[in-house]
Amino acid sequence: MHHETIPILDFGSQYTQLIARRLRELGVRTMIERGDVAVDAVRAHRPIAVVLSGGPASVFEEGALQVDPGIFRLGVPVLGICYGMQLMARELGGDVRPSSLREYGLAELEVVQAESLLEGTPTHQSVWMSHGDQVATVPDGFRVLARTSNTSVAAMADPQRRFFGLQFHPEVRHTPHGTEMLERFLDSASAARDWTAAAIRDDMVAKIRADVPDGRVICAVSGGVDSSVTAMLLTEAIGDRVVPIFVDTGLLRKDEGDMVVRRFTEHGIAIDRVDAGDRFFRELSGVVDPETKRKIIGRLFIEVFEEEASRFPDARYLAQGTLYPDVIESSGVRGTAAVIKTHHNVGGLPERLGLELIEPLRDLFKDEVRRVGEELGLPHDFVWRHPFPGPGLAVRILGEVTPGQVEIVQEADAIVIDEIRRAGLYDAIAQALCVLLPVRSVGVMGDGRTYEQVLAVRAVTTTDFMTADWFRFPPDVLDRIARRVVNEVTGINRVVYDVTSKPPGTIEWE
Ligand code: XMP
Repeated sequence: MHHETIPILDFGSQYTQLIARRLRELGVRTMIERGDVAVDAVRAHRPIAVVLSGGPASVFEEGALQVDPGIFRLGVPVLGICYGMQLMARELGGDVRPSSLREYGLAELEVVQAESLLEGTPTHQSVWMSHGDQVATVPDGFRVLARTSNTSVAAMADPQRRFFGLQFHPEVRHTPHGTEMLERFLDSASAARDWTAAAIRDDMVAKIRADVPDGRVICAVSGGVDSSVTAMLLTEAIGDRVVPIFVDTGLLRKDEGDMVVRRFTEHGIAIDRVDAGDRFFRELSGVVDPETKRKIIGRLFIEVFEEEASRFPDARYLAQGTLYPDVIESSGVRGTAAVIKTHHNVGGLPERLGLELIEPLRDLFKDEVRRVGEELGLPHDFVWRHPFPGPGLAVRILGEVTPGQVEIVQEADAIVIDEIRRAGLYDAIAQALCVLLPVRSVGVMGDGRTYEQVLAVRAVTTTDFMTADWFRFPPDVLDRIARRVVNEVTGINRVVYDVTSKPPGTIEWE
């Protein structure tokens, strides 16, 4: 089935993925393409509209990405944001000038024509600006819709041709009426908004059936959301031709291994659990260096998985829960942007096992995978869970990883997460974690002196995990966390809270 599609031409803005997500949340499928993509490739999407993203460059810079002029002859609505608006203005005969005052951050917008994308929004409102150049004169057919104190053309529209330009970012939360503006843009394209969780699910299932007409599929299940949704979509599509393999490294959260098995059993799926904890602990014995730990775990995971997979010689495919952001990053649309480390990367495995790789989620953003997960009947608390790193608790135990240390951090982590949930703060935090430090400090408990380890608690807010800020806990929540951990977890007598942002800190400690 073909879904309505809006290609987003990416000129390098840090917000390009956010535009894509916002429009998808509003019910239209989006695909990100390089800014200078040829119009034929855009036409191949059968677009109902096109968005030109912002970008860090000035249209006057040599080598700045240009838009194929054919885009403006497709006959569909076009929205230019920031740099995209400047390209549009210049291409269609307007006048763009370097501005004397660069404008970043919040600005007060004054609407002079409350129509088109700005219809129904207040005359005075906040918007999020980031630009150097400005449109000085709009092209023929365009009207100025709004200005700010520094920008005479902050929004423009040609209602006839359905071309729109916004000098600010409607996709960020700092532009409170931005979603309404995007809605009006979808209205201009008469969008039916058919990209719903149910539609995505049907689409994925149909696609898997077409891609995997016969033969068995091996699927690595980590217990996380992506691999669980992958396994469940596969099961819905091709039933017991799926073999979900779960390597329990012994480095997971408290009771996690049993929970993974139970969750699948409840969905009528038998998963193949390999208890490999002993093997992981044996190889990690005496190892302190973070990178060495990661390498050992990565190698061992692949070894164990490979051994298990070889028990199914009739398998022809290997399924992996790759998401759209991974695909975009590796195809280089965003150039040098850092890649978020992926869970249990099985790189190289398909070739060695002679299996064909399939990636059912490769068109989806994380939020969509979560909504599909709920659509498949997975519990809300599970699908909206904080991320957990592939190497597991091993990178949260500084120093040597032993079963005893894992148990301590498991107990502490369970308490911390429990208190965060009780306080109703879980969804306000992007990721919360505990790090066990290999140092001892003196304390006093009852009449006795204690000499035990220190636990560092970390909680961050972020949207993309590339940058993050530490979460401002209400003091009484931190107080409860500290009291319970010290009272209930043998081996810890002191709790500290990590107040480092990223950068310069990373989220994990190793
Ligand atoms: P850092 O520590 O780099 O973490 O700021 C960013 C995000 O990535 C997660 N992370 C990992 N995830 N395998 C994973 O699957 C890994 O090796 C790994 N290392 C870090 C981390 O939990 C955070 O969400």
